[in-house]
Amino acid sequence: MKENKKDIDEGEVSSGDHRTMSDSDDDVPQLSESTLAALQEFYSEKQGLHTQITPDDKFSVGAVEEDWRMSQFWYSDETASRLAEDVLQAAGEGGRIACLGAPSVYQKLKQRDPNVSAVLLEFDRRFSIYGDEFIFYDYNNPLCLQEDVGPQSFDVVIADPPYLSQECLGKVALTIRFLTKGKVLLCTGAIMQVDAEKLLGLKMCTFLPKHTHNLANEFRCYANYQSCLDS
Ligand SMILES: C[S@@+](CC[C@H](N)C(=O)[O-])C[C@H]1O[C@@H](n2cnc3c(N)ncnc32)[C@H](O)[C@@H]1O
Repeated sequence: MKENKKDIDEGEVSSGDHRTMSDSDDDVPQLSESTLAALQEFYSEKQGLHTQITPDDKFSVGAVEEDWRMSQFWYSDETASRLAEDVLQAAGEGGRIACLGAPSVYQKLKQRDPNVSAVLLEFDRRFSIYGDEFIFYDYNNPLCLQEDVGPQSFDVVIADPPYLSQECLGKVALTIRFLTKGKVLLCTGAIMQVDAEKLLGLKMCTFLPKHTHNLANEFRCYANYQSCLDS
């Protein structure tokens, strides 16, 4: 079986269960019947909640609820802030920032400064609440982006791919290379270190990102610039 994205300990479902996700259709999800039933109930209860976002809180981390079926695992508020600060500094005054599969970082950037030049490339269309700054993105078609997204149009790209696989990172890397003028911050599993270096020339930072729900997989950041996450 391929490497799974993230196993999570989720109190709301069952603290002993480890949920696994895979990007392969032929992999059978490793969920027990009782876990599946609990998940289904959990999602049924949540239906409609994401439409209750008010204009005031639409940039708060978690304003759009996690949907694990899309491998969504939001950063803790503190981690989202650290990552946002880092890319802001890397982008420089007036620099353009692309958040690829990293909605929490986009939200933090906008919370901090509504005028910041940032876009969110995302598969989940619920994020279209961000208007022109939402760009639909499916890593399976890495260079299929809306026409007005030109090559090398962002000073820094921060990316958090949905799956821990070479296939997924390879495709996301194509998009990153298309978008960035040079600077890249990648957040993914520690097991992707060799691929991050090989595909994008990235080095692992010392900072340990945290999520709102604990992930069983070790998670890290990788950068190709002098990052504050490495001090
Ligand atoms: C592990 S999450 C990263 C979220 C990040 N930790 C945060 O808090 O902002 C992966 C992201 O990839 C997105 N995603 C899921 N399927 C995708 C696909 N086929 N193509 C591109 N992105 C996808 C999810 O919606 C999710 O936002």
